[in-house]
Formats: sequence, structure tokens, C-alpha cells
Amino acid sequence: MSPDLTTTLKIKYPLIIAPMFLVTNEAMMIAAAKAGITAAIPALNYRTPELMEDGLKIVERGASDIVYGVNLIVNRSNPYLDRQLEVVNSSNTSYVITSLGNPKRVIEQCHRQGQLVFCDAVNLEHAKKAQQEGADAIIAVNSGAGGHAGKIPASILVPMLKEQLSIPVISAGGVGDSLGVKSVMQMGAYGLSIGSIFIACEESAISTQYKDAVVKYGAGDIVMTSKISGTPCTVINTEYVQKIGTKQSALFTLLSKNRTLGKYAKMATFYLGGKSVALAATEATYKTVWCAGPAIEFVDGIYPIARIVDSLMGLNSLDQE
Ligand SMILES: Cc1cc2nc3c(=O)[nH]c(=O)nc-3n(C[C@H](O)[C@H](O)[C@H](O)COP(=O)(O)O)c2cc1C
Repeated sequence: MSPDLTTTLKIKYPLIIAPMFLVTNEAMMIAAAKAGITAAIPALNYRTPELMEDGLKIVERGASDIVYGVNLIVNRSNPYLDRQLEVVNSSNTSYVITSLGNPKRVIEQCHRQGQLVFCDAVNLEHAKKAQQEGADAIIAVNSGAGGHAGKIPASILVPMLKEQLSIPVISAGGVGDSLGVKSVMQMGAYGLSIGSIFIACEESAISTQYKDAVVKYGAGDIVMTSKISGTPCTVINTEYVQKIGTKQSALFTLLSKNRTLGKYAKMATFYLGGKSVALAATEATYKTVWCAGPAIEFVDGIYPIARIVDSLMGLNSLDQE
């Protein structure tokens, strides 16, 4: 067998529970480790770097020799990056996943601490750049992904990056069953980063309404909106989403392009969009903006992470019972 993520991270199966804003929590990370995989949490899930420090300690106490990751947003919308990086560097975080920006500084600082850095990329240009900066692997975010999806399908993105890069390619997007895992690994992926099908897992602490929506809605109900972070993101096309529309306001678009004001416009969009998703994730509200990808098609119930992992590895079927 060729080496894969199991070799690098010393885990049983080559799967990462992808970082998910407001969804991934400590319980999910611990359950992932116990199920033989790993999970990564967005630093953004903690209101402050100090709370993140406390959260990571809970994770580290939760399972012996736990292998876990932290996701850092490395562009101008993240005012806490320096402090978050300090917390990561002084923790037992095994790997960092960078998204939305230039990962150079994060790579340099993490490598000094012996921590790996996997960089999100949606195309060859971004992937090559990250490789040049010293990334340990690329997370190839394809067109089927939840969150900030790419434009290229996995069947093209994975082989293309594999051929053009010398570092491993981890595939993210559109997988929800064992056939999906097998086929992406056969394309040459080093592992998979999987988000959407874990949103409604037993261990996640989101609202029942959000979990029920993930079970009830399917691939055809997912739309892209730029209202949340300014960057297009997949959400469930609820009545509320239909009502508010999916385009960022013309004023914000204009401001984001301005050299001086752009940073603040991006921070404001991120903050306001984040607030509405936070509300929907944790409370029953008419103003529901539920982030999810088309792979929710595969979700037909609320299960513990261990069962979802077994089904992804072809060890059981979630349909049984
Ligand atoms: C609810 C949700 C929240 C997400 N939040 C983040 C995030 O905070 N940071 C990030 O880098 N990616 C985020 N993503 C993208 C995932 O990390 C991953 O790339 C994606 O879920 C893979 O596609 P899949 O959902 O089809 O498995 C999010 C995805 C979802 C579904």
C-alpha cells in the first residue's frame, strides 16, 4: 500500500473531519480520535484566543495521544491571527489547515515548532504557491465542497494536482459514503477532508433545527451566497435565504475593492455574516442561514461519529436498522 495520511498523522483511517465554522467542537474532535481519524477546528470557533487555549486543553485531555488540527484564516479578515498562531504553537496541535490567504508566515512559524501545515487550494496556481512556501500538503477543495467551494470537480482537481505537485494532495468535497472515499483514494488522494456529512452527528452541539435540516434537505437545495463572508459559500436554500438573496450588497463589494477601506469592509462582512450564521446554528430562528454542502444528500439520520466513520470505511451501512 502506498503511504497516505495514516502514515503521516499516525491515525487508523486517512480521514480528517474538516474544520467547520460553528460546528466543529471539542466533543467531535475527541470522538474523531477515538474512531481512528482526526478532526480540525477553526480558530474562529472561539470568540477569543484565550478561549481557544482552554478549548485545546479540553481536546488534549479528551483522548490519549490525540492527533488534531486547527484551521487558521490567514487573510485580512482575521484580526486575531498573531495571537491564534501563538496559542497553536504552544499547544500539541499536530497540523494547521490554512485557508483564504497567503500561508507563508504560518508555515514558517509552525515548522519551527515541528507542526505540519496543510493549505487549502482550489486550483493549480494557489496549490503551487503554497507548495513553494513550504506547505506539507494541499487540501484540494473541489466544486462539490461545503463552505467556500472551488470550481473544479474532484475527478479533475486531484489528478491534476497530483501530477503537478511534489507534496501530497488531500481531497475535500462531495464525499459522503464509502464508494466516494474509495474512488477519491483511487484517484491518488493522500486522504480526505470531509465536512458536511458530520454536521448532524450526535456529538455536534448545533441546534436541532440545523441538524434536522441537514437530514431533510439534499444536494439540490444547496446554493452559493456571498452574503456571509464576502467569499461565496454554500448554504441551504431556505425561505429566508431566498428572501435576502445571495449577492453581497453593492456598497460592500465596492468597499472591499478599496485599498484602504477594503480590510474593514471584509472584516465587517465577515462579522455580520458570521453573526447571522451563529444565530442560526445555535438557536431556532426564522433567520436561518445554515451552511452545508451538497454531500448532505448522504445524511439520513443523526449518528455518532464512530458509526459515520465506519460507514465511510465500508465497515457498516447507516441504512441498516
Ligand atoms: C458548515 C461548514 C462550515 C465550514 N467552515 C469552514 C471553516 O471555518 N474554515 C474552513 O477552512 N473551511 C470550512 N468549511 C469547509 C470544510 O473545511 C471542507 O473543505 C468541506 O466541508 C469539504 O466538503 P464537504 O462538506 O463536501 O465534505 C466549512 C464547511 C461546512 C460544511
